[in-house]
Amino acid sequence: MTDHTGAEVRGIDLTRPVSAEAKAVLTNAFVAHSVLVIREQSLSPHQVLAAVELFGRVFLQHNTRFALPECPQIHYLSNQDRFPDGRRYIPGEGWHTDHSNDARPPKATALHAVTLPDRGGDTQFANMAAAHAALPPVMQDRIADLVAIHVYQSSHSTRKLMTLSDANKERVPNAVLHPVVRTHPESGRKSIYINPIRIEGILGLDHKEALPLLGELLQHATADRFQYRHRWQPGDLVIWDNRCLLHKANGDYDMDQTRYLYRVMLEGDVPR
Ligand SMILES: [Fe+2]
Repeated sequence: MTDHTGAEVRGIDLTRPVSAEAKAVLTNAFVAHSVLVIREQSLSPHQVLAAVELFGRVFLQHNTRFALPECPQIHYLSNQDRFPDGRRYIPGEGWHTDHSNDARPPKATALHAVTLPDRGGDTQFANMAAAHAALPPVMQDRIADLVAIHVYQSSHSTRKLMTLSDANKERVPNAVLHPVVRTHPESGRKSIYINPIRIEGILGLDHKEALPLLGELLQHATADRFQYRHRWQPGDLVIWDNRCLLHKANGDYDMDQTRYLYRVMLEGDVPR
């Protein structure tokens, strides 16, 4: 889709069994391109699960309020949800990587479009490996050994998340430490691993130093030249690599129209 991110997959029907060869093509393409856009699928929740399991094992998402009753490993994203005070909740606005407050954050997230608005609602991706490679060597050295503190909801984030129920809070760690630069376990490439909605601080750095540094890294990494902007088509199944991408949703469409997608995540490693 761009020279650094995204590949389109056509000519496969994921409601049918997938051969070992096709599975290998898909999983290799996933690592090589970071985003796969698999077109023209029409999948029930259980078929989405089976398709995404070609790439790994399902990760149990944190806020079970969004789980589908008939298939709880799948959550939904919908623009029809509201905060308790009645304001509309647009999930995924603002740059982030999913569930980085987990000790083993999900390696991948997949979305299957069920209902889309006529226009808008694109998902943007920023390639953090390309962004790392383009940093000046002095900045690469400065951040090479930094460790960030990730929490469910950063006090520095302007984007507010839905609160967790008490039962969910018990499953979700209070804080975890992850390197600011991580090495992809399959490609070996280094990526900047930051998350404005989750990072509370950097170990050993004053906020006065840490926050401008994180802001500078985010601004660099989300420049247009590192982005792939996905324009959704009906039937798209999109799977992306959380280990080397940031992503964001856009609430820029007619909110009287429904935007509804299924979401599945896959288990990942401890970032190193
Ligand atoms: Fe997300």
